[in-house]
Amino acid sequence: MSGESSSRRGFRVSRSEYKAIAERMKTIQEQQMRIVRNMRSIKYKVAVISTKGGVGKSFVTTSLAAALASRGKRVGVFDADIAGPSVHKMLGLQTGMGMLSLPDGSIKPLEVPPGVKVASIGLLIPMDEVPLIWRGAIKTSAIREMLAYVEWGELDYLLIDLPPGTGDEVLTITQIIPNISGFIVVTIPSEVAKSVVKKAVSFAKRINAPVIGIIENMSYFRCPDGSVNYIFGKGAAEEIASQYGIELLGKIPIDPRIREANDSGRIFFMENRDSEAAKAFLEIADRVIEIVEKIGPKPPAWGPTLEEEGG
Ligand SMILES: Nc1ncnc2c1ncn2[C@@H]1O[C@H](COP(=O)(O)OP(=O)(O)OP(=O)(O)O)[C@@H](O)[C@H]1O
Ligand SMILES: [Mg+2]
Repeated sequence: MSGESSSRRGFRVSRSEYKAIAERMKTIQEQQMRIVRNMRSIKYKVAVISTKGGVGKSFVTTSLAAALASRGKRVGVFDADIAGPSVHKMLGLQTGMGMLSLPDGSIKPLEVPPGVKVASIGLLIPMDEVPLIWRGAIKTSAIREMLAYVEWGELDYLLIDLPPGTGDEVLTITQIIPNISGFIVVTIPSEVAKSVVKKAVSFAKRINAPVIGIIENMSYFRCPDGSVNYIFGKGAAEEIASQYGIELLGKIPIDPRIREANDSGRIFFMENRDSEAAKAFLEIADRVIEIVEKIGPKPPAWGPTLEEEGG
């Protein structure tokens, strides 16, 4: 071995490369400690998961957040879907709007009515297309950096909108966030939804957190004459729920006003309180509160206190 390099099983790492890796590891460790510290003031962290894209996960996350807030809970939403952030838009905010950065380096999330705090990479990028080209490792380090600097303050619930899937990226994200209380699985009513739930259940086991329940989105369409059309089929959610012993938290109908509101940056839940969908979200919020608060907060993750850090 030369004085300039070290060798690991035939793989040579130069001293400067070694130093760069060590510095990177130190940064990651410091950021992780900040995350643990920042998240101590959050009672419950609930991650919203689906193994298929486009099933309405972001819509469900934002509507549930609004419903929990309207029940008097202090709520935050973190958009962990770095490749396709949409939470901010569904909560009436615009891409590139920014978040307030304080002199100590911390970032304040934005707040929207009815009192939901939002942190999303979508607020920081100048236009929607930017993060799509980021690779896996860059995406997870962007998430780690954001979580390290966002000061949520006291929250009852932080809802995390995960990217679609249960692959490595989602696994890494859920490992960065300490003490997730549980997962909510979003599905649509179809045969494939069965395998979706199966995957989500085994994923939750790996993270050592329970599945709080399933929400079936796009469940049915109510026709103008009042009759119900089960466009994607009927009964799959009940079947899955009983097969896996998981609660079906509720069903959200297809409603064209949902897409219209989401596309034009209006909060559907706030503008359509009398709709079947909004009423379903309120019932789901009540049930989530019952289930999660019965389990109780997890003990704070390990990490030095502010005093120990000297800050
Ligand atoms: N119940 C519903 N009725 C009508 N439109 C809906 C409903 N739920 C979601 N949508 C619309 O379907 C589209 C996909 O929803 P959303 O973006 O929430 O899905 P997603 O699972 O988060 O997608 P992605 O995998 O891309 O993150 C959006 O245009 C949304 O407005
Ligand atoms: Mg989404």
